[in-house]
Amino acid sequence: MPEAIEILKAEHRVFRRFLDLFELELAAFEAGRSPRYELLEMLLDYFTSFPDEWHHRKEDLIYDVLVTRSDLARPALDDLRADHERLAAGARQFGEHISELRQGSDLPMEVIVETGAVYTRLLRRHMVKEDNVFFPMAERQLTLEDWRDVEYAIQASCEDPDLRTRLDRIDSVARAIEAIMLNEGA
Ligand SMILES: [Fe+2]
Repeated sequence: MPEAIEILKAEHRVFRRFLDLFELELAAFEAGRSPRYELLEMLLDYFTSFPDEWHHRKEDLIYDVLVTRSDLARPALDDLRADHERLAAGARQFGEHISELRQGSDLPMEVIVETGAVYTRLLRRHMVKEDNVFFPMAERQLTLEDWRDVEYAIQASCEDPDLRTRLDRIDSVARAIEAIMLNEGA
């Protein structure tokens, strides 16, 4: 399996673990308990930055090659890029609701929970499509040379110092979330 796909799949596994935690906080909210705002904000920080800054960027690189290799890719994947944009907007909207809430707005709990639920559903569905359709199709269609180009483009973006700094920051957020999960035996 190409290394890029292996890494993307590992990132999906992290997304799923973090979404489980996110859903627990939403359930607390729905049950009338106060969510752990600090944890919720770390999760939102992660989901509004890491997928866009890095994960989707790498998938978009692969997708752009795949659509040149197969006419079936775009219809089969229902335009992956549009999904990525929807996900970015969904996470942002949920984040805005949480900051409004913390600033004392009386936004109904149902609206906040529903916004979070829409986002988690969309991301989970999106990952199933990528794991089951996009990645296998890319593995079938891309040549060894294509994968080398993809790896090269990924490495090249890593050399951008600003991006590096942003990724290091989000990595520390991810480690803080992992530490909380470890403490809870999750
Ligand atoms: Fe993905």
